[in-house]
Amino acid sequence: MQRIFSGVQPTGNLHLGNYLGAIRNWVRLQNDYECIFCMVDLHAITVWQDPAELRSNTREVAAAMIASGVDPETNIIFNQSQVPQHAELAWIFNCVARLGWLDRMTQFKDKAGKDKARASVGLYAYPNLMAADILAYKATHVPVGEDQKQHLELCRDIAQKFNHDYGEEVFPIVEPLIFGEATRVMSLRDGSKKMSKSDVSHASRINMTDDVDTIAKKIRKARTDAEPLPTEMVGLKGRPGASNLVGIYAALSDTTSAQVLTEFGGKGFGDFKPALADLAVDKLSQIQDETRRLMAAPDHVDAIIKTGAQKARAIAEPILREIREKIGFLQT
Ligand code: TRP
Repeated sequence: MQRIFSGVQPTGNLHLGNYLGAIRNWVRLQNDYECIFCMVDLHAITVWQDPAELRSNTREVAAAMIASGVDPETNIIFNQSQVPQHAELAWIFNCVARLGWLDRMTQFKDKAGKDKARASVGLYAYPNLMAADILAYKATHVPVGEDQKQHLELCRDIAQKFNHDYGEEVFPIVEPLIFGEATRVMSLRDGSKKMSKSDVSHASRINMTDDVDTIAKKIRKARTDAEPLPTEMVGLKGRPGASNLVGIYAALSDTTSAQVLTEFGGKGFGDFKPALADLAVDKLSQIQDETRRLMAAPDHVDAIIKTGAQKARAIAEPILREIREKIGFLQT
């Protein structure tokens, strides 16, 4: 069976974009692949995190994952910092990757902003740690959102250079898995911007913890144009707000945008938004109830994570032994 690795940052509230773009896809992959899912707390601290919040967010992401249908018995769910092999391999990759490669990373440029000198070194080296996450398990497939494609390219470059420098096919060249409707869920206030936990407007995103009324209200207020929905996909061109809502509907109902238009084409948002609100409330409240139930017993969640970390270490350590040997480190 082929091995999947994917990660999610345990920062802030999970929102609909995280669910539709990542977690829901993981649920679908779990039967066909050996899956390793990681709360990437080492990545999280590349920018400041309040310690108590980091701890509770890490638990909450695990709970939400399980509540969404990721089976903790057949998959590995754990937090990155419990498996030291990630940090060890990341250091090695710091010495494999070239400055010029990292200089091209657009996410660093976006996150560091104008004042690059004040960004942490970790934020800059972030993609090397991400490559280490994946290659510490020799994972071959990585489900990610569009925005992570460039980081996966870097992971391939690192694997290739390592293989070249140390003379053998040590690391696989990973394949991104980007699929599903609405893998790119956009802001409800601006259909040209990604839905994001850092957006100052709360109305721009649906949090996985929003109550029924809030979800319905945010959808009702989502910014769109005033035209009715088209019957064909071409009619969505140049209508980012409308495309986004149609995409979200398709993803939540497991169909395609084209199919949604067959049903709602010709109808106005006065009809479509309430239908979408009902659907979203229905899908999300089930997950929310289950997350709440799990969070009421945090020890149980922590035990699942601990077992996950043990299983992860058991896979990563023999791979790291092989890498240390290749590099020429003396080891016992
Ligand atoms: N950088 C990813 C994100 O922000 C999270 C991540 C960290 C990840 N390590 C990974 C995703 C390894 C896939 C594989 O979404």
